[in-house]
Amino acid sequence: MNDALSNLMHEDRRFPPPAELAASANVTAEAYDRATQDREAFWAEQAERLDWGRKWDRVLDWDNPPFAKWYTGGTINASVNCVDRHVAAGRGDKVAIHWVGEPADDTRDITYAQLQDEVSRAANALTELGVVKGDRVAIYLPMIPEAVVTMLACARLGAPHTVVFGGFSADALASRIVDCGAKVVVTADGGYRRNAPSALKPAVDEAVAKTDGLVEHVLVVRRTGQEVAWNDSVDVWWDDVVARQSSEHTPKLHDSEHPLYVMYTSGTTGKPKGILHTTGGYLVGTSYTHWAVFDLKPDTDVYWCTADIGWVTGHSYLVYGPLANGATQVLYEGTPDSPHKGRWWEIIEKYGVTIFYTAPTAIRTFMKWGDDIPAKYDLSSLRVLGSVGEPINPEAYVWYRSTIGGDRCPVVDTWWQTETGQILISPLPGVTEAKPGSAQVPLPGIAADVVDDDGNSVPDGHGGYLILREPWPAMLRTIWGDDERYKDTYWSRWPGVYFAGDGAKKDEDGDIWVLGRVDDVMNVSGHRLSTTEIESALVSHPKVAEAAVVGAADETTGQAVCAFVILRDSAAGDTSDIVAELRNHVAKEIGAIAKPRQVMVVPELPKTRSGKIMRRLLRDVAENREIGDVTTLADSSVMSLIQSGLSSND
Ligand code: WT7
Repeated sequence: MNDALSNLMHEDRRFPPPAELAASANVTAEAYDRATQDREAFWAEQAERLDWGRKWDRVLDWDNPPFAKWYTGGTINASVNCVDRHVAAGRGDKVAIHWVGEPADDTRDITYAQLQDEVSRAANALTELGVVKGDRVAIYLPMIPEAVVTMLACARLGAPHTVVFGGFSADALASRIVDCGAKVVVTADGGYRRNAPSALKPAVDEAVAKTDGLVEHVLVVRRTGQEVAWNDSVDVWWDDVVARQSSEHTPKLHDSEHPLYVMYTSGTTGKPKGILHTTGGYLVGTSYTHWAVFDLKPDTDVYWCTADIGWVTGHSYLVYGPLANGATQVLYEGTPDSPHKGRWWEIIEKYGVTIFYTAPTAIRTFMKWGDDIPAKYDLSSLRVLGSVGEPINPEAYVWYRSTIGGDRCPVVDTWWQTETGQILISPLPGVTEAKPGSAQVPLPGIAADVVDDDGNSVPDGHGGYLILREPWPAMLRTIWGDDERYKDTYWSRWPGVYFAGDGAKKDEDGDIWVLGRVDDVMNVSGHRLSTTEIESALVSHPKVAEAAVVGAADETTGQAVCAFVILRDSAAGDTSDIVAELRNHVAKEIGAIAKPRQVMVVPELPKTRSGKIMRRLLRDVAENREIGDVTTLADSSVMSLIQSGLSSND
């Protein structure tokens, strides 16, 4: 562990829960003991917050590990739980979504009753397009209400969705469509990005052309009104098909273990993994944690999670968790700096947001922009703040707490993953004395630990690997179409134990500090990127012979992508801007989020005798540090060659 991290562990600022919040908190300390005494009884109790058709026979079936089944024998409909039941309970007039478009005057308040109508129409439209239970539907949309509506319509039909982040490339979209076999794609002409329409449909057209006739229909929402190419045999306008449908749709119940969605995430190899989440357990896990971690009071809170629906956070804490809980929330289409850098705070003031959930990278950006910007707005409605996506450094935490939270709002640093589906480690705002920089404690019902190389629990004050010892309701069930990879990736390091891929440390109080990935996965602005995937993209460029990618520490984005490339001989003497060309090439292959911050052209790469690239040494270069131990290099002169080449480039 590096020095900065050991320093972190000596953080001694403490923030006890506000007395008022603690006195009426949804969850109190007693929940931990109760859950430990009988984990399954605890999760059975949490399942009672949902509406089931048939109740489950067994809470957990772990007869065939690592393939878990939760609430077996139970039947449920996620869409009914997120929408219809609130209307049936007389809360139809309650606002479900305050939608805020990027053009500043473009807003819409959608009540639960309206949401029910729209979801029903969309479910009828998808049915007309031939979607039946079990079919997969790909969603490639901006942050507009139709995104939420489509997800819930799919869930209603039992047609698993796969949402692909709008920033991903046509190739990335195509590979996801093919991997999960989606027969319908729902998209828009475009979305708004910093005051300008940004097209989506061309990427879909390109992707669909690569899927060999798999995609039968592309359902297109008109959002920006920009010109789009049109293929009458595939493309249909949302307005033509959805608007004329009946707003009545009688939902069917699905098995608790029926697939709800597939979310692709980067692993250590070039091929993204389709993480499968199923219905009953996922909904229990997300709704319980959303209620517990944010202390949600559905009647009075206004909740806002800034994540895009293209990521798991958007699924668990923007769609399924909050809507299952009947929350009122904000959904914002745009970026934080459009049309001005106070936009988020303006939205909080306007809607009286009480619970706010965002990422450390955003917090660090706001710190850079200066305190005077949030100071112009009334943020006194806020009462709980959340952070997710990467470790939050104590300075950013304390700034968030004081400048945004007025020193009265507890900050919950929530650790989880695409795979875990739900938050697993986090302080509870009414219980935990908070420590800046630490996710602290496993939630009630969660068996997290830090272990050494042999899988033994480390004593307090020591570091190791973050693991889970017991299954949890919203856990992934497998990797779509690849049970072996599921077993190998998560369950093979130590028998019976889920390995998250993160390093962590327990401090002297036993609190957990998550230190980041221990594998070849980078975390850039809270987004997971695979070094191998970016290397493959670089090597696919005709001028590149070899490439190595590392994540280097970055003040704003946490980590930044740094690429080292060896050019082909044929590119020698090429005077074009090869660096710009390669950065754009990666953006085209994967998406703009994967664009390297730096591309360094080098004559050699440091390798061990067995040919493995020593990324540790490259990271030293990328972070401008003294180069570490080079004794295991096949050729120890390589590092000086690389460095002299780079300094002569400057
Ligand atoms: C990885 C999961 C969870 C939704 C967003 C990212 C890192 C996430 C924290 C946190 C330290 C964190 C881990 C994890 N991470 N939250 N609070 N403290 N690290 O989901 O793309 O699946 O990435 O993000 O490294 O393994 P994801």
